[in-house]
Amino acid sequence: MSDPKASNSPLATSETERSLFGEILDWMLAPLLFVWPLSIAFTHYFANNVANYPYDQALREHVAAIARQVKLVNGKPLLSLPASARALLRADETDSVYFRVITMDGKLLAGDKDLPQIALPVDGDTVPGEIYLRDADYKGQDLRLAYTYLTEAGMPKTQWVIIEVGETTEKRSQLANKIVASVILPQFIIIPLAVMLVWFGLSRGLRPLTRLRKTIDARQPDDLSPIATRRVPEELEPLVEAFNEMLARMQRNVEAQQRFVADAAHQMRTPLTGLKTQAQFAIRETDPEALRHALRQIATGVDRAGRLVNQLLTLARTEGGELAQRRHEVLDLADLMRDVVTDWVMIAIEKNIDLGFESSGPAMITGNPFLLRELAKNLLDNALRYTAEGGHVTCRIVANPDSVLLEVEDDGVGISEEHAELVFERFYRVDDAGTEGSGLGLAIVQEIAMQHDSRASLRPNPTGKGAIARVVFAAWRPPPSPPPLPDDFSELYRQSPPIGT
Ligand SMILES: Nc1ncnc2c1ncn2[C@@H]1O[C@H](COP(=O)(O)OP(=O)(O)OP(=O)(O)O)[C@@H](O)[C@H]1O
Ligand SMILES: [Mg+2]
Repeated sequence: MSDPKASNSPLATSETERSLFGEILDWMLAPLLFVWPLSIAFTHYFANNVANYPYDQALREHVAAIARQVKLVNGKPLLSLPASARALLRADETDSVYFRVITMDGKLLAGDKDLPQIALPVDGDTVPGEIYLRDADYKGQDLRLAYTYLTEAGMPKTQWVIIEVGETTEKRSQLANKIVASVILPQFIIIPLAVMLVWFGLSRGLRPLTRLRKTIDARQPDDLSPIATRRVPEELEPLVEAFNEMLARMQRNVEAQQRFVADAAHQMRTPLTGLKTQAQFAIRETDPEALRHALRQIATGVDRAGRLVNQLLTLARTEGGELAQRRHEVLDLADLMRDVVTDWVMIAIEKNIDLGFESSGPAMITGNPFLLRELAKNLLDNALRYTAEGGHVTCRIVANPDSVLLEVEDDGVGISEEHAELVFERFYRVDDAGTEGSGLGLAIVQEIAMQHDSRASLRPNPTGKGAIARVVFAAWRPPPSPPPLPDDFSELYRQSPPIGT
């Protein structure tokens, strides 16, 4: 049976594998594993060279000693090798020693006839009297040989005398092995010791990381204060700074949310208190007409509270980007605005306000239709609410090549320069407006405008009466289309040169 945890979280395994400690250790020790056999090979090579040297010298001396016993008399070699010398040549506890004195044409003067035949190169470089070395195989054993040539002026090469002394390589191997062992064996202690020291060094080196983790672990869940960078190593400082910036952002968000929740709760309390008072009043009421009036008031109060709750929800969702995350689409703002205005005609008629709509044709932008409707609704609501009976409200869409302007103009109470910016803050209302509202409408408008990379403004109407609300959007441009094909295709053929020219 497979482990459900393992199958559910492939990330978990890859994350545990990615331990910094393990990673560094791997990268330090893995090369060591490659280097070690290499160092053994080198040691072996140099140990052999070192071991060969003294034995080669001894072989050379043997060759020189024999050469001294060979006399060339009138081109004829004469050899007088005393028995003691012969015995010396053969006496060795470990290795066998062989020698041979032979002429180039194969006449044996002394020694072992069947020593491996040398195809000894006698060329321009060969110097008689010089001692050379070579390796050979003799009776299944490795043999190291030293040899030299003896000659006289005018002697033909075929009569040159070759003196050779060979020796098996047991002593050399033993010495080389001893050298290798004396170098390698201590490494069996040194390398584990080095690994342990690296391990220790690494855990000490990574201690600041552990300390940082502990500092973060030890924090209170609501502590969003920055982490001190005083004892943080240089390499970790950018990480901690980035983390601190994130904490600061979170702190700002949390504060904004707390403010919003406090304001929202405060705003909700007013209509709820009103509802309760009206309900208590209704309970005591005996006159049916007065009771009906009280209930109507309760119904209006509930409507108001409901609207407030809806506005709070819209604001929270717009701010959270929940709605904006739905893809923006290409839309005709003039169409959208016409729709919204149509919905509000009845309300305008009820208030005896002349509600008009003007547009110069399609006005294409990219945006979220749901949010844009909400924006338009709030601007229209304000214009109608802050304009007295008999007034005029005009919605206008002006499409320019690069931008699309949405304008809601009224000739109502107007707005002073002093309040023009402040009214976009949440719950901010101009006191003398003398109307009901919670002060969230323009905050929602601004939030939506920002989600469309724009900013909303409310300015006094230049005519001197009323206000104008404006939002400017970037116009949508169709992607460049490929150049149209000529109607007559034969035109194309005529333009291109004939193939093969
Ligand atoms: N067209 C306008 N003419 C004059 N004053 C306006 C206009 N629009 C907004 N205001 C002022 O700006 C203030 C804030 O408007 P906002 O729409 O944010 O809240 P509200 O209309 O008071 O309440 P609600 O949240 O119900 O819309 C209003 O109280 C009003 O004083
Ligand atoms: Mg409003």
